[in-house]
Amino acid sequence: MKGFCLDRLPRPPERYHIETWGCQMNAHEAERIAGLLDSQGLERAASAGDADIILLNTCAIRERATGKVLTRLGELRDLKQSDPRKVIGVLGCVAQEKGKELFRRAPHVDLVVGPRALASLPRLLGEVRTARHLMDLEHYSDSVLYGHESTRRDDPQRACLTVIEGCNKTCAYCIVPFTRGREVSRPLANIVAEVRHLVERGYVEFELLGQNVNAWREGELDFADLLAAVDAVDGVRRIRFTTSHPLHFSQRIIDAMRDLPRVCDYLHLPPQSGSNRVLKRMRRGYTREAYLEKVAALRRALPGARLSGDIIAGFPGESAEDFARSLDLLEEAGFDSLFSFRYSPRPHTPAADYPDAVPIEVQQERLALLQEHQRALQEAANARHIGRIYELRVEGPSARSGGVRGRTTHNLLVHFDAPHTLIGSFTHARVTHGGVNAVRGEAVGSCWRHGA
Ligand code: 5AD
Ligand code: SF4
Repeated sequence: MKGFCLDRLPRPPERYHIETWGCQMNAHEAERIAGLLDSQGLERAASAGDADIILLNTCAIRERATGKVLTRLGELRDLKQSDPRKVIGVLGCVAQEKGKELFRRAPHVDLVVGPRALASLPRLLGEVRTARHLMDLEHYSDSVLYGHESTRRDDPQRACLTVIEGCNKTCAYCIVPFTRGREVSRPLANIVAEVRHLVERGYVEFELLGQNVNAWREGELDFADLLAAVDAVDGVRRIRFTTSHPLHFSQRIIDAMRDLPRVCDYLHLPPQSGSNRVLKRMRRGYTREAYLEKVAALRRALPGARLSGDIIAGFPGESAEDFARSLDLLEEAGFDSLFSFRYSPRPHTPAADYPDAVPIEVQQERLALLQEHQRALQEAANARHIGRIYELRVEGPSARSGGVRGRTTHNLLVHFDAPHTLIGSFTHARVTHGGVNAVRGEAVGSCWRHGA
């Protein structure tokens, strides 16, 4: 009888598990990585314990985000010890932030891949069985192009798309320009082709992503032109975009938001502070007055638009007076929602060396004041929707009411009683009760209510 070679037996496909932290851009990158691995014949595992390859797609925006990754790596040490064939990879911004140091702190890590080198992952996974401690931290200029055709999206209707990567700004607190490098815009034709492809598969809502999304450019074309090109694709129902920088938020973009029927009347425009002195030290490049003028221009064009922002509490040197300016900006700008953070010193940023740190207790107190104040403003703002009827895209079941939850074009979340068969469709509801983060409503004019 002939010899029997075990190596020749077909091996079951390797299974991967991805854990993701951070912004929408990171969440979308996880979808692109998953698709890339699927296209190489790998399979998704049910959990880290079941996986041959464990990938942590990480965020470094604040110290705590980085800390969570290090804690998770500590937990994975036992798993690796019990099965040394498992591959552990750190991807994304913490990979870029820490680089080789990760191998010193966590020797059980096999791969370190920066956010602009993710296309190298299949190659590195091919090499990792024969070499240890592989790393790629290049900022590849074509990183914006990989994986779009194979992206694995779990939502069947709403798709995120990266349109620009990196950030050319130099905000004094922010690690992103270090981790993600210089801006690179994805070509318009490539974006539109992906949108068309997704529309054919039933997608109706599109969120264009970039750290500095409205800095998108291609030759003479700017972000307003990109919005127009996506708006022109038949079958697109809603277009959102995030995150916008106030300096690039032009009248052309405002006009596009007003004139293009599918572009949603919602804007995330982070001011970061309401004090001119702090804005200057943050190197944001605009004043409070200039920020408020952009908001006023938006409201002149689209009076019903909803607005959200980001504010940092306790930036180095922020006085009580400066903080009071951030607090009163909430009212003056009229944010419908707000993301606020305690300043966190980050490596590779100028502000980390500023000498005048605000004590942590003061930062915490200011953060709590911002959140409390915003909560009251938000409740009042949401109460103003009572009685109004909006078109909603029904996103899923409501954890609150047993009914469903839907979202307006201006990003208001509405819970209302309706059968789950409505999930995935567009319908209308009247807001009946206010709330802080969402409101309650009732369906109007739906045929299912009359048994039709
Ligand atoms: N500390 C606290 N918040 C930060 N952000 C960015 N860098 C820091 C930092 N070092 C916030 C900004 C940004 C949001 C994504 O995170 O408000 O808009
Ligand atoms: Fe960071 Fe400023 Fe760039 Fe935003 S614009 S990613 S806050 S450097």
